[in-house]
Amino acid sequence: MNAQDITNKPGEHAIFMIFGLLSGREAADRVKELCAGFAAVPQSMRNRFPDSDVSCVMGFGAGAWGRLFPDRPRPKELEPFKEIKGAKHTAPSTPGDIFFHIRAKRLDVCHEMAAVFSSSLKGAVEHIDEVQGFRYFDGRAIIGFVDGTENPAAGDAFGFAAIGPEDGYFKGGSYAFVQKYIHDMEAWNALSVEEQEKAIGRRKYNDIELSDEEKPENAHNAVTNIADAEGRELKIVRANMAFANPSKNEFGTYFIGYAGTFGTTRKMLENMFVGDPVGNTDRLLDFSTAVTGTLFFVPTLDMLEEIGG
Ligand code: HEM
Repeated sequence: MNAQDITNKPGEHAIFMIFGLLSGREAADRVKELCAGFAAVPQSMRNRFPDSDVSCVMGFGAGAWGRLFPDRPRPKELEPFKEIKGAKHTAPSTPGDIFFHIRAKRLDVCHEMAAVFSSSLKGAVEHIDEVQGFRYFDGRAIIGFVDGTENPAAGDAFGFAAIGPEDGYFKGGSYAFVQKYIHDMEAWNALSVEEQEKAIGRRKYNDIELSDEEKPENAHNAVTNIADAEGRELKIVRANMAFANPSKNEFGTYFIGYAGTFGTTRKMLENMFVGDPVGNTDRLLDFSTAVTGTLFFVPTLDMLEEIGG
């Protein structure tokens, strides 16, 4: 089994692209052609730019999976993301059929790959969204806090990111959930550093976690820290990137979480947007608005090749 690059580090640069699949047989055939040849693209890029740590992931929304591969089973948890509406905050659901997550140390290498995928799908898809993310200082979100610290360690990451034997046909695949957030930087920066630290649950300068006594129940790392019935921690593999268009006063986080069970990601989202107990919503959301939300299934490379053929 040959998985896609679902556990790689966020990288220095990333491009996230979401397309809508056009109707008709020809469009579907074009996408399948790319599936069949997909693995060759990163292989060639790694050969051309060996030091660039280039990687890419291709995923499918629920609607596209059904239309492209009507005779195949459907991954158990693949469905259009259902909006989460709390009293105060909403995680919207937005459309998306084909998804690419491209990472590299160099933006030109990311661009090259994005251009190859886009041109090979020309006429078969329409643009929905594209975000260029960058590594901000020492891996910080644009709100100034180091992001990714509590990701599973390298040896455990695949176990959390990849589908296991419970959905055997899709073993090694993954559920990628993406969400584009816009931050109210004026309001955020008006907080004292201590108040910001209480919102995240970690120290801003050195990234040390707040003690249990210091950490409020609505801190971001308190509401997203979840466990199963036996008390084992449930994790996802995050690869968020900062993005910004300062001249538009737009500052954001592109959230991406890879999980073997989408239920884990969804529970984190419910804790953030509705609260558990209800009303204990994530303090970070008082300064961050989710403007997109889409779930994709990421097959293994072997499956991509097979479904393309
Ligand atoms: C506004 C968007 C977001 C920002 C800026 C953000 C930022 C952060 C930061 C700075 C941390 C602390 C360092 C770390 O452990 O990574 C963190 C932790 C975490 N975040 Fe987020 N995050 C965002 C959205 C989300 C979403 C949507 C989810 C889940 C669906 C999530 C899940 C987590 C988890 C699981 C942790 C680790 C919690 C623990 O300590 O056990 N985050 N995030």
